Amino acid sequence: MPRGVVVVTGAASGIGRATAVAFHRQGAVVVAMDVNSAGLDDLCSELEDPTRCVTAVADMAAGPDIVSAFSQVERMGGCEVLVNAAGIGLSLPLVDHADEDWDRVLNINTRGSFLCLREAARQMTVRRRGAIVNVASVVGLYPSPIPEIAYDTSKGAVIQMTRSAARELAPQGVRVNGVAPGPVPTNLYGTPPEQPEVPMPLGHGTVGDVVDAILFLASGKARWITGQTLVVDGGWLLR
Ligand SMILES: NC(=O)c1ccc[n+]([C@@H]2O[C@H](COP(=O)([O-])OP(=O)(O)OC[C@H]3O[C@@H](n4cnc5c(N)ncnc54)[C@H](O)[C@@H]3O)[C@@H](O)[C@H]2O)c1
Repeated sequence: MPRGVVVVTGAASGIGRATAVAFHRQGAVVVAMDVNSAGLDDLCSELEDPTRCVTAVADMAAGPDIVSAFSQVERMGGCEVLVNAAGIGLSLPLVDHADEDWDRVLNINTRGSFLCLREAARQMTVRRRGAIVNVASVVGLYPSPIPEIAYDTSKGAVIQMTRSAARELAPQGVRVNGVAPGPVPTNLYGTPPEQPEVPMPLGHGTVGDVVDAILFLASGKARWITGQTLVVDGGWLLR
């Protein structure tokens, strides 16, 4: 169980929310970050011990929000685990992407993840301890069957950011890994169709399948693993 604070972004919904609940069940103090303040309140009200859940309303596209949320984390004893799960999707033909579409997706999914990673690293390197898990996607490794060039690019960048940060931070005791989920039912993805456009050799997965991988990578059991993005996709990429 982490001794310091576990920060989860995107904690109001889906993978982030389930990750926050799972760390809370392990006894951790969780800082739940999201732009959706009602969703964060709802999360805390459902936890067994709401005193171990602090909410931080922050827009991943707004640097000052992120810096201020991490100042709060520092006052609570410092970040030991960061899970970067906040993200948005956008399906649109390449030629229809407006400049603003590209900027918005990259700002939230990639720049926002970087800013959280940077703030967490500033706290972790001082203590020479910490684990960061970035939520990427299989479409950061292999193009999606639906048109979503900004989203795919944002996730590919997260995978390379994970490697780059891992290499730089390893000597300072900080591990950086990622997960690349295949489609799982959430607000972002919706409900996977019964007959998916890409075959799922192991059948449909759940948010819990992704959370298990995140917990593993953040835990001491992964103490000799860094720079990796673990594909959790039921075989989606095997074609
Ligand atoms: N569900 C899938 O099939 C799937 C597959 C691969 C990767 N992912 C990734 O998993 C992560 C979690 O997504 P999810 O599927 O749980 O979706 P979700 O929509 O259920 O959760 C995303 C959360 O991010 C928050 N968020 C969005 N924009 C934000 C912003 N500007 N600032 C702060 N918070 C913001 C939302 O409020 C929401 O709570 C995302 O990074 C997504 O790209 C999801």
